[in-house]
Amino acid sequence: MGELQNLISIHDLDRKMIDHILDTAAEMESVAVNRSKILDSKIMAVLFFEPSTRTRLSFESAMLRLGGSVIGFAEAGVSSAGGKGETLADTIRTVERYADIIVIRHPLDGSARVSAEFSKIPVINAGSGSEEHPTQALLDLYSIRKMKGKIDGLSISLCGDLKYGRTVHSLGMALSHYDVKIKLAAPQALRMKPAIIEQMKKSGADVVEVETVEEAVKDVDVIYTTRIQKERFPDVREYDKVKDRFRITVDDLNLMREDTIILHPLPRVDELDPEIDNTPHAKYFDQVYNGVILRMAVLKLILG
Ligand code: NCD
Repeated sequence: MGELQNLISIHDLDRKMIDHILDTAAEMESVAVNRSKILDSKIMAVLFFEPSTRTRLSFESAMLRLGGSVIGFAEAGVSSAGGKGETLADTIRTVERYADIIVIRHPLDGSARVSAEFSKIPVINAGSGSEEHPTQALLDLYSIRKMKGKIDGLSISLCGDLKYGRTVHSLGMALSHYDVKIKLAAPQALRMKPAIIEQMKKSGADVVEVETVEEAVKDVDVIYTTRIQKERFPDVREYDKVKDRFRITVDDLNLMREDTIILHPLPRVDELDPEIDNTPHAKYFDQVYNGVILRMAVLKLILG
């Protein structure tokens, strides 16, 4: 067994472990280029019950760069769970006999935790409902540290859909372990749940809430913006009301500090003007590559 058993929730990690994962990721930068055979006897199963581009492909790329092999499905409909009504528990009991580690994305909150309870092999949460996305939070922290040289002392805006966005839930909690100022920026209807804000404050976070794009982008080191999570709204009319409410445009660049970086977990829809892509503020496509590096570190710490 490796240094980590599972990766289900950011709540399971203390600052020491988070820093250790980020340090291990830094060691993976050269391994990612030169490739390695350290996991050559290992098989990773990817069980994706929800759409994904970056998370699944970066996990696969990470495993292949470490010499391991990959099996799995990218769509629930092609599995017995989607097509024939198999339970998650039975799916896990089956897959654990084919692989050494499971990476799962599922629309239900708690799905990764439940999978780990049934599984004899390690489980990584690649997104559970609107609740959590711990490896995204870790790659976001890694990106901030790599691009800004540190995390402590920074001020960071988390923007967009703070209600349904799982990446900001995990990132907010992860950032709370550091000495940072956090601005939560969202229209009223998409505010972060008070219970999560309370947890962040309990962990020592310095949090303020704002409602406009202007306030969100001003005087911060990092702007982390997110897609409005259409698929998680119980009523599509509610989505229509807020879908254009938090768009960052080129005009907003004038309000930003010159060294402010913009991150986004992607995919982007309308919330971030593509004209921003060619400015020095835009770092979201560099952030994508860090997903490979960080996930190599997590696989090594669990399986290595
Ligand atoms: C995010 C997700 O799936 O939660 N995507 C990702 O993993 N990079 C964000 C999103 O879908 O908006």
